[in-house]
Amino acid sequence: MKVSSSKFNEAFAELNCIENNTKMTSKFLNFQLYNFMNSKTILITGGAGFIGSHLVRLMVNKYPNYNIINLDKLTYAGNLANLTDIENAPNYEFVKGDIVDAEFIHDLFDKYQFDSVIHLAAESHVDRSIANPMEFIMTNIVGTANLLNAARSIWKTLNPPLTPPKEGELPPFGRVGVGQTSNLFYHVSTDEVYGSLGNKGMFEETTPYDPRSPYSASKASSDHLVRAYYHTFGLPVVISNCSNNYGSHQFPEKLIPLFIHNIKNNKSLPVYGKGENIRDWLWVEDHARAIDVIFHQAKVGETYNIGGHNEWKNIDLIKVICKVMDKQLGRPEGESEKLITYVTDRAGHDLRYAIDSTKLKNELGWTPSLQFEEGIEKTIAWYLNNEEWLNNVTSGAYQNYYEKQYASR
Ligand code: NAD
Ligand code: DAU
Repeated sequence: MKVSSSKFNEAFAELNCIENNTKMTSKFLNFQLYNFMNSKTILITGGAGFIGSHLVRLMVNKYPNYNIINLDKLTYAGNLANLTDIENAPNYEFVKGDIVDAEFIHDLFDKYQFDSVIHLAAESHVDRSIANPMEFIMTNIVGTANLLNAARSIWKTLNPPLTPPKEGELPPFGRVGVGQTSNLFYHVSTDEVYGSLGNKGMFEETTPYDPRSPYSASKASSDHLVRAYYHTFGLPVVISNCSNNYGSHQFPEKLIPLFIHNIKNNKSLPVYGKGENIRDWLWVEDHARAIDVIFHQAKVGETYNIGGHNEWKNIDLIKVICKVMDKQLGRPEGESEKLITYVTDRAGHDLRYAIDSTKLKNELGWTPSLQFEEGIEKTIAWYLNNEEWLNNVTSGAYQNYYEKQYASR
């Protein structure tokens, strides 16, 4: 039988269409399969705080196939207003709770069967740790231990099961390869665990621990616990130690937002000692990016330092803040500097922090993205443009804290 060429063309086009549809369907299915295989339920603790909220935002927006569960007690430092832009995202859920409550943490892990944990919840202000060390010991040490126990308890059914790694070997589970993770307990820590530097040198990952405040001692203890669970039980862990962060949404008890708030309200600027202590400042969104990179690419059991290569003597930094504030508020230059007041030094005040983050750069390719001059302008502009946020967090309990902290200095 002879088939007319137009009939043949029609049939051919139909077949092509079916094939294309099949190709498209299989592409779609592949995509869905990829999403399914790469989907994870990740617990982020302390996600309503300063760094935590930046990290939650990054993870929720960048990884729609991850379910991000933000666990936060909402202490004075936790603020859900930090996350209004993503609060309705389908891959985000907030749970209010205390990491010190072991039973609650156990039940939470049982319910969600988290694939991984990124642990940031902590008491984080050095001055508060001097006034009340026990809060720090409970949250930072006991709270971390509770999370480690819960992770160990749900991940013990891993295949192959949790066993301690042999000397010099990686545990028999964990990273499947670059860009993929299975279970991971990521502890976000601080450079303060290394102690205080003199005029020279930098903290490296191998620098011995020498914490000197109740805050840094509690963070050092939690780092030790995390490593102990890796060596003893083979729990897949990673730790990063970061320098001072700055940026939007930081509670105005820390130097930069406190001084912005005081300048705005023409209040004195309490500089501890002679203002000669040195800190290494990093843009908070760069810290969140570093956590993302480490979470996805680090080898289990490793530690990474994160820093800004951006050292400032406090008094020099304060003068920059004053200058930018004068400019942004339209005040005569030099006006805000008049508010500088030297007050009694912080007890045990660490002289200098400086982080060597070469390992993170060489192994995982991370470097800070923002120049400090640009970052500080953006930061100040954010606090001035978000008056309501600042007013809300500085009302009520903040006033009592401020009176207690600074009245006797
Ligand atoms: P933050 O004080 O702004 O936030 C801490 C968050 O933890 C808050 O939302 C608070 O409500 C929550 N939290 C406190 N106790 C809790 C508890 N018992 N249970 C559940 N949630 C609780 O702190 P941050 O500056 O965002 O720091 C986050 C983490 O990063 C901390 O572990 C800190 O040690 C570390 N870190 C901070 C810096 C820095 O410059 N801020 C630098 C390096 C490392
Ligand atoms: O290095 C990382 C650490 O940086 C984090 O682990 C901590 O959570 C974070 O709070 C920060 O600790 P610091 O003590 O360095 O930050 P803070 O902003 O409190 O102080 C910065 C410097 O400014 C420090 O040398 C003390 C000084 N200072 C601070 C305050 C609040 C003042 O001179 N006056 C002040 O009123």
